Amino acid sequence: MENLMEKIISLCKRRGFVFSSSEIYGGIQGFYDFGSLGVEMKNNIKRLWWQKVVQERDDVVGLDSAIIQNPNIWKASGHVERFFDLLTECKSCHKRFRADHLVEELKNSGKLDEVGLYTEKEMKDITKVIEKIKCPECEGKLIPPRQFNLMFKTFVGPVEDESTKTYLRPETAQGIFVNFKNVLETQRKKIPFGIAQIGKAFRNEITPKNFLFRTREFEQMELEFFVKPGEDEKWFEYWVKERMRWYVEVLKIRKENLRIKVHTKEELAHYAKACVDIEYKFPFGWGEIEGIANRTDFDLKQHQKFSGQNLEYFDEKENKNYIPYVIEPSCGVERIFLALMCEAYQEIKGGRTKTTKPTKEVEVLLKLDKKVAPVKVAVLPLLKSKKELVEKAKEIYQTLKPHFVCQYDEVGSIGRRYRRQDEIGTPYCVTVDFDTLKDSTVTIRDRDTMEQERVKIEELIKILKEKFENV
Ligand code: GAP
Repeated sequence: MENLMEKIISLCKRRGFVFSSSEIYGGIQGFYDFGSLGVEMKNNIKRLWWQKVVQERDDVVGLDSAIIQNPNIWKASGHVERFFDLLTECKSCHKRFRADHLVEELKNSGKLDEVGLYTEKEMKDITKVIEKIKCPECEGKLIPPRQFNLMFKTFVGPVEDESTKTYLRPETAQGIFVNFKNVLETQRKKIPFGIAQIGKAFRNEITPKNFLFRTREFEQMELEFFVKPGEDEKWFEYWVKERMRWYVEVLKIRKENLRIKVHTKEELAHYAKACVDIEYKFPFGWGEIEGIANRTDFDLKQHQKFSGQNLEYFDEKENKNYIPYVIEPSCGVERIFLALMCEAYQEIKGGRTKTTKPTKEVEVLLKLDKKVAPVKVAVLPLLKSKKELVEKAKEIYQTLKPHFVCQYDEVGSIGRRYRRQDEIGTPYCVTVDFDTLKDSTVTIRDRDTMEQERVKIEELIKILKEKFENV
């Protein structure tokens, strides 16, 4: 669909899913606020991940560690020394760019010959490539790239100096590694087992872009799964399959819009022996929504070295100590949110609501999976002007509220109200009409088929619950 991203951004703002952060002050690049619908949908994504990765398993437990931690953690993890992107700047317009992104764009443009670069090897020397290309904004000269650390710095306590400097975490994973022993001892877990965490992460990205895809504050859902060395490759394969299944079977993302990208040796992070990305086909191209890495024993060994604490595991069966290997599936809530929006967005020209005359308007249908949809049920009196209908609808709304996220809407024609609910992906609309007053029945309208089913009010909760269970 043409301009799909613009349409999604506009819908997100118009209907209260996502706002640019600090908007009344002119905004702040790379930060977003989630509105009432957005926060419901985000919570649904997190709940579905937690349910699959923690709740349904015996071998994974949860954790919620602090965002600000001892700065030595980031020295041990390698983030202080190595968590860099290459930054370049235009000498004329002073716009800043990620050097590797400019090189990637050049590769994709097929214009390599124009700048006199032909081979992969030549492309790898980013400084040389940057020397040969011009600013994409104003064609000015670019300065040689320099390393830029992505961690946000802050200070703990009233004095701001080197001794109080620390960072906002750039990944939730380290909070898990440093609690490995605490969890092991208190939960009496045996390897293989995992620790899962959902929480905010912060990266001072040089160029945040593509709406929620690359932001400076985001939420990660990470699992560190500890295994016996030698069994790591088997578990790596297991988690790649398991995580792919979640996207297809639980989130109902179409298979053709997902793919697996295997990292080459050069692409691997400093801590990884192997890594694959699960990518989604966004309107701007394929993009990573989850990375699954074999982190080996790198992190625990580093923390053992830097903290001086023994982080070995005693394997009773083998009667020996070792540092476990770690398999890490790590995904971002906002990227999944954006993928689900792209997956669900549909436009129907000429209208689809049976109760209204065909219109020239384009109707938006957000075909979100029922589990993900922010509002589950809308309750609508047929006419606002009939007091009895309004009273009955409000009464039903109150009885449904403890069971489902509901909306009550009486404004505008019934067709318009159905369209408003279709646009935010509400799976069911309950309509209170004149028959309701006679025989205590209501209709349930299905978002996708637009079929209406008449049911008794006393059975409404049970029937709706069944509809949400059977997905
Ligand atoms: N602990 C491993 C780790 O952090 P990563 O590939 O850098 O690995 C994992 O990040 C996931 O976090 C990504 O797959 C993506 O979904 C999300 N993510 C990373 N950077 C992001 C950003 N700037 N904006 C939004 N999401 C991001």
